[in-house]
Amino acid sequence: LENGKIKDFGDYDLLKDKYRDVAIACYPDKLIIPGFIDTHIHFPQVEMLASYGEQLLEWLNKYTFETEKKFRDKTYAAKIADIFLDELLKNGTTTALVFATVHPESVDAFFEACAQRNLRMITGKVLMNRNAPDFLLDTAKTSYQESKTLIQKWHKQGRLLYAITPRFAVTSTDEQLHLAGQLLEEFPDVYLHTHLSENVDEVALVAQLFPDSKGYLDVYDQAKLVRSRSVFAHGVQLRDDEFQRLSEAGSAIAFCPTSNLFLGSGLFKLMQAKSADFPVHVGLGTDIGAGTSFSILQTTHEAYKVVQLQRHKLSPFKALFLATLGGAKALYLDHVIGNFEIGKEADFAVLD
Ligand code: GUN
Ligand code: ZN
Repeated sequence: LENGKIKDFGDYDLLKDKYRDVAIACYPDKLIIPGFIDTHIHFPQVEMLASYGEQLLEWLNKYTFETEKKFRDKTYAAKIADIFLDELLKNGTTTALVFATVHPESVDAFFEACAQRNLRMITGKVLMNRNAPDFLLDTAKTSYQESKTLIQKWHKQGRLLYAITPRFAVTSTDEQLHLAGQLLEEFPDVYLHTHLSENVDEVALVAQLFPDSKGYLDVYDQAKLVRSRSVFAHGVQLRDDEFQRLSEAGSAIAFCPTSNLFLGSGLFKLMQAKSADFPVHVGLGTDIGAGTSFSILQTTHEAYKVVQLQRHKLSPFKALFLATLGGAKALYLDHVIGNFEIGKEADFAVLD
């Protein structure tokens, strides 16, 4: 390794003479793998993990919004960001696409904690201007302005990247979603991160809130949010034509099996997402705090079962791919992370 990047790769016997003066770290009987990539997680939801008994919409109202209220306080947000990052690293996750809260302070606190540790992380301020308690609402205009300020402050600072983050169609007006689309046009290399078609009641509510749309994905499409570097969490209830549209757009789905089981949302159709005709980028997401584990290994375990329940097989090799290089491809970061190729960033996990 040199300057945080992979300098060379190969059999020890072939490389040892070339690098005679280099200090060596040796991990006998351990497995060194590329760091895990979590393509969907909420840092403010650490403390509400295992809040039980409800499905999505009730769970949000009963537990989630009350928890996220606390992140107006930057000192509190910084404390949770530290706990969160310690937990991610303990589980071998070195890159994540992360929800903050509606408060710009939560984004500053998170990025500051990541910068201190020189991590490659992606986050952004949550946009939400309706259907939530007043204390969590912004407006279409303030969300646009605050996001823009944060992009200019943080995007591509060191290894940090920004994601424009409308929570989901239920909590944004059409005007807010369109302004998010406008921001993406102004800053074409930032991400779009949101939730999509997770739960049956949610899909019905979106149809009611957007009567002119052809479906849930179309709400985002009409606002120009469906593109490459757009990451949609869940997609459990997607229709065939929506999978096709995601494939054509180069967008990604974050498959979050522990969350989908915990909230009773359903079984993600991984085999359809990976069809030969219309393949969609897929990464794994823990979706803490609806998800029940920080561990991407545990997440592959549950992914295996979700696929089994649909009478398909998920091989360990494909699971490892989803957890590493597949996640990197979903985030369009496979030129910098995801495997041991020379020149990539040296983010590894050592498994005991
Ligand atoms: N949909 C909108 N907000 C959320 C959230 O915080 N968690 C999950 N799992 N789904 C959502
Ligand atoms: Zn989520």
